Amino acid sequence: MKKFRGILYGGDYNPNQWPKEIWKEDMRIFKNAHINSATINVFSWAKLQPSEDLYDFSQLDEIIAMLSEENYEIVLATSTGALPAWMVAKYPEVARTDYEGRHHKFGQRHNACPNSPVFQKFSAALAGKLAQRYGSNPHVKCWHISNEYGGDCYCENCEKAFRVWLKEKYKTIGALNKAWNMEFWGHTVYDWDEIVLPNVLSEGFGNDRTAFAGISIDYRRFNSDGMLSNYKNERDAIREFDKETPITTNLMGTYKGLDYFKWAKEMDIISWDNYPSYNTPWSESAMCHDLMRGLKNAPFMLMEQTPSQQNWQPYNSLKRPGQMRAQSYQTIAHGADTIQFFQLRRSVGACEKFHGAVIAHAGTENTRVFREVQQLGEELERLGDILPGSVNEAKTGIVFDWDNYWALEYTSGPSVDLTYVKHIHAYYEYFYDKNIAVNLIPVDADFSSYQLIVAPVLYMVKEGMAEALEEFVKNGGTLVLTYMSGIVGESDNVHLGGYPGPLRKLAGVWVEEIDALAPEQFNEVVMTSQKTYSCGLVCDLMHLEGAECLGTYGTDFYEGMPAVTHNRFGKGHVYYVGTHIEKQGLYEILNIVVNSAAVESIVSDGDGLEIVCRKTQDSKIYFVMNFSEVQQPIPALFYQCQDLLSGEIVSENTLLKKYDVYIFERKVGVSYGK
Ligand code: GLA
Ligand code: ZN
Repeated sequence: MKKFRGILYGGDYNPNQWPKEIWKEDMRIFKNAHINSATINVFSWAKLQPSEDLYDFSQLDEIIAMLSEENYEIVLATSTGALPAWMVAKYPEVARTDYEGRHHKFGQRHNACPNSPVFQKFSAALAGKLAQRYGSNPHVKCWHISNEYGGDCYCENCEKAFRVWLKEKYKTIGALNKAWNMEFWGHTVYDWDEIVLPNVLSEGFGNDRTAFAGISIDYRRFNSDGMLSNYKNERDAIREFDKETPITTNLMGTYKGLDYFKWAKEMDIISWDNYPSYNTPWSESAMCHDLMRGLKNAPFMLMEQTPSQQNWQPYNSLKRPGQMRAQSYQTIAHGADTIQFFQLRRSVGACEKFHGAVIAHAGTENTRVFREVQQLGEELERLGDILPGSVNEAKTGIVFDWDNYWALEYTSGPSVDLTYVKHIHAYYEYFYDKNIAVNLIPVDADFSSYQLIVAPVLYMVKEGMAEALEEFVKNGGTLVLTYMSGIVGESDNVHLGGYPGPLRKLAGVWVEEIDALAPEQFNEVVMTSQKTYSCGLVCDLMHLEGAECLGTYGTDFYEGMPAVTHNRFGKGHVYYVGTHIEKQGLYEILNIVVNSAAVESIVSDGDGLEIVCRKTQDSKIYFVMNFSEVQQPIPALFYQCQDLLSGEIVSENTLLKKYDVYIFERKVGVSYGK
């Protein structure tokens, strides 16, 4: 496989939107910013194929020739993320039908029906032609299939394909009826053709919930598989002509629609687009990076971020001086081997004209944003020899599962506020604050390399999962479980016999009832330490079955009942947190957990800083970053170490201001400082 030369630095570049005089100017300006890469051809289908039988690569030839001559590393997209107008006019089936059942006309992007044979044929044909023409060009370093796969379709082709998918999965109609519990409301089907897609016209209620979560979860799986087969279709077309260039598509962090763990198996390298809002906590961005790294447990590409502003959020604030640089280093710290922007030149019209770019509408290098891009480019050029390929290691795993994501959010009751990512983040945040390295892991991960597994809101426990967790704990692992866990199996039918179902033995508790509290309602948890914390959202009413109680409810009719427990199981420990407890309370519990699991912070005196470590064969590379509002002292581990970025030797007097970043390399086996 081809490899990047150093840290890929560049991003989405659309010279096709500009006259040629500008291209020359672009080349000059990019060089000045140490840009070494361009992602091209993301939305050019209409240009490459102006009609059904006509392909025209002349402009792309010129763009690729120019970039090759200038020695850029090219990320070449296949352009299939937006349909050409002629195709929709001639073959309306290529467009999508939405959740409300409206069949769409030409317009927008990310708009192809994944199950349209016409779309499948044309998209693979285009990908193949591109690979045949450009795959052997040594400057083409990566294929970028389509763009941000997502959304869904409820057309007739999808409905037919859904039936085929279901037949494959369930084999008999009886098995399907059982899985979906169709006896409820007398919804039994007798023929595969009676099955319809779950949208507003059938089982839908609310935004995307349906009366039968089991159907909706299967639809999600089906749709994720369908889009993945679109990806594979193009990938295979490319591979016919090009076996050497890695292939990716740009993912979107915790995006709900697609099971990225499944996708990752088909991708050579993960890439993703990071667009935090002005108020996204830095811990959430870190979590997304850890998830994207976790998909293949390997370094990834940061395919897109904005140099400054966005256009599609309600409030598109500027990135403050130093913010983009700090964000980029956070990304690299968590495992990125590339930093790419959307976009290199700000467009002149349509909805992204206010979207930030390396070159602003002023058209010159004389901007704050350009200078910051340039500084980062110069630094990354230097780091390119050390960083790429280095790895992040962790002894703590947080389970993330798309099936569970869908099930938890599709289920009706007990609370609409039980959203998945928010609860994963509540737990992740603790480890972030303590500078404890975390891997986000799938439910079928090899747990044996971890000391601590945290599985927040593990509502759906599929076959084999409880056994795998038992094995992990039996052998000495520590497991954290929470409210809303172990309730259903893979089709959203309840594990009968008392909550948390298959996890009951592990946790040593029986949850008899689950109370739901409105946002203005609270209970409290009184810990054995006598500290009291507010809690809410849901409260498990539990009985001990071998576990010990670490905290009880403070009010209401279940005052005195256990809210937080600890159970010994084999050589290990299981903690069960029965309610959504305020941050300080959760931190007190997780302090106990971390102690018992013996997982360690990267440094113990790093409060207020984010500290992440990547390892090479013979060294550890530490990223020390300040995202807090106040100055923070450098941890003692780094006294007398030299910052790779500035060359400065730091000491006990060194203070990091907001957005300051230091990078230290410590060779294994060499002693530093005092
Ligand atoms: C996404 C897309 C890009 C662009 C950016 C704007 O990430 O992939 O084409 O629209 O958003 O933020
Ligand atoms: Zn469709």
